Amino acid sequence: MRSLIDIPELSVEEIDQLLKTACDISENPEKYQNKLKNKKLATLFFEPSTRTRLSFEAAMLELGGSVIGFSSADSSSASKGESMADTAKVISCYADIAAIRHPKEGAPYVASINASIPVINAGDGGHCHPTQTLADLLTIYREKGRLSNLKVGFCGDLKYGRTVHSLLSALSRYENISIVLISPEELKLPGYVRREVLEAKNMDFVQTDSLEDSLNDLDILYMTRIQQERFADYEEYLRLKDSYVLDTKKLELAKSDLCILHPLPRVNEISVAVDKDPRACYFKQVMNGKLMRMALMLKLLTENRSDSADTCCEGETVEDLYCANPRCISTTEQELPQKFKLSDDKAVYRCIYCDHKATKKEEK
Ligand code: NCD
Repeated sequence: MRSLIDIPELSVEEIDQLLKTACDISENPEKYQNKLKNKKLATLFFEPSTRTRLSFEAAMLELGGSVIGFSSADSSSASKGESMADTAKVISCYADIAAIRHPKEGAPYVASINASIPVINAGDGGHCHPTQTLADLLTIYREKGRLSNLKVGFCGDLKYGRTVHSLLSALSRYENISIVLISPEELKLPGYVRREVLEAKNMDFVQTDSLEDSLNDLDILYMTRIQQERFADYEEYLRLKDSYVLDTKKLELAKSDLCILHPLPRVNEISVAVDKDPRACYFKQVMNGKLMRMALMLKLLTENRSDSADTCCEGETVEDLYCANPRCISTTEQELPQKFKLSDDKAVYRCIYCDHKATKKEEK
């Protein structure tokens, strides 16, 4: 059974196909209104969401299917201590497909190896968020007419911003993309993303802390919220929360065809006056998110795939290694073996659930 946990699981051809389907849905919605009749989507949201959950639900309803689910951990048996594995087995008896958001990194992956229905990662901790990336790609494609030859700036919380990690991974597969990473020192892109996406793919990138100095030649500016809920230290959040505010004055420095994206919710990093600027594309991005989720669910539920990979055998246990990431699902899930895989350059072992570099037991 095919799931979608992270972007690299989709080939470039598959992404192209999803973009085409989404455009066709937008032009001919009536053609699709009964395509998933009698199919049920379960939305399991253990963490708050407006857009992602509602867009999954709207997407399924517009395809003729129906929706069940919950929107907070308190209203599920997780609050009684139920494991992700058991929740996944239970939900497989009720629904045909599930979208899962969870604060623990790797939780949707653990669900996918225990479920007998496709599982879509709707955001796991600070790790990844592949369906937001599909929304971002459709927006770039519709606004710019291409996914290659672009200079893309990412601004804000690049450490915990999962949408940034997934979009970088997607963009690394297109030609002539150059990246400008704009963040305070404390919120720089995690080393594993920098090494395994940007450096491994030989991408052109720079890191800076100045938005003003970066604006003049960007084609895309991807603004992000400082992710308060991921900070262990609230004082640090308060110090960093107003690092960047895009306003009409700063926009004078930018190209006239800049495309401004934001996965939303916005806190104060884009002033409301910018919404009227034709370069502001973040509300179009919301609509595109629904279209891409429709295309994705259609694909996962109608594709005939006999090669249902048994992903639970992935990775290996390595005696003196453990995952020290406090946000990893392996720190809370019962009887989940810690498993690791070698990084692409074979230099380090990474946790198969959250991608963090493994720690040697004596380093404790
Ligand atoms: C993002 C998320 O949840 O990661 N929002 C979204 O899915 N539209 C970004 C965020 O919460 O800042």
